[in-house]
Amino acid sequence: MRRPIVAGNWKMHGSRADNARLVEELIAGHPDRAAAEFLVLPPFVYLQEVGRLIRDTPIQMGAQNVCAEAQGAFTGEVSAAMLKDVGCGYVLVGHSERRWIYHEDDQLVARKFAAAQSKALVPILCVGEHLWDRENGRTEEVVARQLDVVLELCGVEALNSGIIAYEPIWAIGTGRTATPEQAQAVHAFIRERIAGRDAKIAAATRVLYGGSVKASNAAELFAQPDVDGGLIGGASLNAEEFLAILAACGSR
Ligand code: 13P
Repeated sequence: MRRPIVAGNWKMHGSRADNARLVEELIAGHPDRAAAEFLVLPPFVYLQEVGRLIRDTPIQMGAQNVCAEAQGAFTGEVSAAMLKDVGCGYVLVGHSERRWIYHEDDQLVARKFAAAQSKALVPILCVGEHLWDRENGRTEEVVARQLDVVLELCGVEALNSGIIAYEPIWAIGTGRTATPEQAQAVHAFIRERIAGRDAKIAAATRVLYGGSVKASNAAELFAQPDVDGGLIGGASLNAEEFLAILAACGSR
């Protein structure tokens, strides 16, 4: 049984005041017995404060990025140990905005995955294709490559404490969501790909969907057999909407 996850990627949004308000509303509205793990991914500078706000609540925290190196002269970077130190349990690696805007390649993403695990952070590996890949029938090729590089470097066993998020780039922030069938097809492909190395690990690995998930479409996406929750951008900045997405996980 895979326990679903609903994670809110705040990206580069918010302020101390906004975060305090949002977290207060999330805590107040969080059900006692949620069907899913619930986590927020604030910008680096707010991690410590948000960590304090959610202490002793069921809400967990992660970061949006991590340095592949352990420590040293890497100006502007933040290490896995530092994230752990301020209370993170999770970290995104290879978000499409990191890959495409900041030119992070598959190898670097795989090294970040390993760096996170070396400090007992759970990496959430983001994979997903551009619209032109999909239109040219290359979705599986792209997703397989992004996944395989991590499996080669870290071994399939790394997925025992790792999560995958399928985020089609054409669905991120566009209001254009993958249909439940499109999402399910890629999620099933990811699971089969992992099963090619280890069927048991494949069956236990959580694969989240991200890309314009809203309260109005979450239930049908989460109802798909291989969709184990969501990675939510814009809608996670609104407590009512984000909590409604969490509730949609309960109706799986
Ligand atoms: P949106 O939900 O805003 O489309 O963002 C998805 C995403 O990139 C989450 O990481």
